[in-house]
Amino acid sequence: MKIISTIDELRDQLRGQLRTAFVPTMGNLHEGHLSLMRLARRHGDPVVASIFVNRLQFGPNEDFEKYPRTFQADVEKLEKEGVYVLFAPNEKELYPEPQEYRVQPPSGLGGMLEGEFRPAMFQGVCTVVTKLFSCVQPRVAVFGKKDYQQLMIVRNMARQFAMPTEIIGAETFRADDGLALSSRNGYLSAEERAEAPFLYQTLNYVAEQTRAGHADLLALEQDAMKRLAARGWQPDYVSIRKRIDLHAPAREEVLAGAQLVVLAAAKLGNTRLIDNLEI
Ligand code: PAF
Repeated sequence: MKIISTIDELRDQLRGQLRTAFVPTMGNLHEGHLSLMRLARRHGDPVVASIFVNRLQFGPNEDFEKYPRTFQADVEKLEKEGVYVLFAPNEKELYPEPQEYRVQPPSGLGGMLEGEFRPAMFQGVCTVVTKLFSCVQPRVAVFGKKDYQQLMIVRNMARQFAMPTEIIGAETFRADDGLALSSRNGYLSAEERAEAPFLYQTLNYVAEQTRAGHADLLALEQDAMKRLAARGWQPDYVSIRKRIDLHAPAREEVLAGAQLVVLAAAKLGNTRLIDNLEI
């Protein structure tokens, strides 16, 4: 695997490649990321991964400084996956001057759910993804469904800007007890780690109740948040949305069989976890 830290060298290395499959990451790679690499391999060749902890998508009181950086271990994992190029620029390379041009997602989609609680996030994501795509010029790029809203925002962005990159969503990779793998799981104490699968259990509860025809989805969401709070979680939201646009479904849409997803974000101690489940 070639480890490349400059845009010029990356462009030289990838010149003429028309089927590049790209997986952008912020490092601290776990099995979930590696499953994205494997999916990328099925959709293109060569596979290019990036590691860049993108300051622009973190709010002032968020975990940019303490975000786990495990470069050597990440390199070893990517080598085993047969990744051809790892693009790992530093901040000076990707943001040599203040990044004044930014890509702003629409306030409807970008301002709800995660966007409500992390206002800087999606503008930061769209900006860095656009820049990374410009460097890598991938034919396909793989994003995990664990970040469901991010996947939709990036997919819509690529479509609206007619980017020549197909966005592929990868299923969420879960531990045996159901917890979605995330770099932030590493912040959990042993006790919190034992409690953490309850978020997924709550999503399953909401999904089952919805499938069974629970009439009042708002009440169901509130019930789920109460269940979390009763066990010491601080929920930001548990929300049943339409898969197509992440808007709340009207009763008639539910009855007409609209495809739904339930999304949740909640803090356990100091760690904020997100997860979702298609219903
Ligand atoms: O999902 C992530 O790890 C990040 O948001 C991404 C897509 C690599 C952009 O920094």
